[in-house]
Amino acid sequence: VLAFGGVAAAQNFPSRPVTIIVPFSAGGPSDAMARILAERMKVTLGEQVLVENVTGAGGSVGVGRAVRSPPDGYTISFGHLGTHVANGAVYKLGYDLVTDLEPVALLPSNPMIIVSKKAVPATSLKEFVAWLKAQPTAPTAGTAGAGSGSHIAGVYFESITGIKLQYVPYRGTGPAMNDLVAGQIDMIVDQTSNSIGQVRAGNIRAYAVTDSKRVESASDIPTVDEAGLPGFHMTLWSGLWVPKGTPKDVVAKLNAATVDALNDPAVRKQLENLGLQMPPKDKLTPEALGAWQKAEIAKWWPMIKAANVKVD
Ligand code: MLT
Repeated sequence: VLAFGGVAAAQNFPSRPVTIIVPFSAGGPSDAMARILAERMKVTLGEQVLVENVTGAGGSVGVGRAVRSPPDGYTISFGHLGTHVANGAVYKLGYDLVTDLEPVALLPSNPMIIVSKKAVPATSLKEFVAWLKAQPTAPTAGTAGAGSGSHIAGVYFESITGIKLQYVPYRGTGPAMNDLVAGQIDMIVDQTSNSIGQVRAGNIRAYAVTDSKRVESASDIPTVDEAGLPGFHMTLWSGLWVPKGTPKDVVAKLNAATVDALNDPAVRKQLENLGLQMPPKDKLTPEALGAWQKAEIAKWWPMIKAANVKVD
């Protein structure tokens, strides 16, 4: 019966709206990517694809909500290097990021970008680092909470520069960016996709991207290697998961709708304009995301645990 039920589930799936839980505030990079994809996925799936922002604790509240939802494909967990890797080394999550979730598909990625409020009198990364070191109290860095991508990037930045930052946690880097533009915080090590609009508008200063090559749609911003922090490389990738136990055929249907969205020219144009890079064509299966996540856990957990990140 279960097998029959499984087959029936996939044939009729979806028969009502699907919800993508984004574990950060509206207006941030995760939210932006999810909404761009959802717009196209609803065409392929033939049902509404809703985005629900469930925020807090570096994204772990929203992921927990998705983990505990029925394993029927109607609730999808949007996440990334922060939520589906780093959070496991920072929090006692009450769920397991690998065994309590089924991978659906790897999504686009982007390097981080080192940005500051406009008032900082620096026009290069070297000058910015000198300014940070000269501050009488710890400079403030906006994050999306302990364990978020922007927080882990900040910890990495501290370890490379020796600068001590005062983290200011928000429910996403959308609200953090509002405060950066207003000059309320000094900096963010942000997802490029979140900062690129404000950089182009001249509202914040950008110093470097954390990659060995420049971002095509922001080619005037140097790499960390060019700007004097060689090796400070961090690519933040995103992905979609569903609760463990979701029927394989339903996972396959969600994977197909996601891959279709990633292949849609209008979607690609929107994402690439944000500085996002498409996932490799040979990494688009659910299994590829599963392997990717496990490899990233092995890569990042030692650094995060060694930094013994405080959960504020
Ligand atoms: C993060 O810093 O983890 C995310 O960029 C936050 C967000 O997407 O709002």
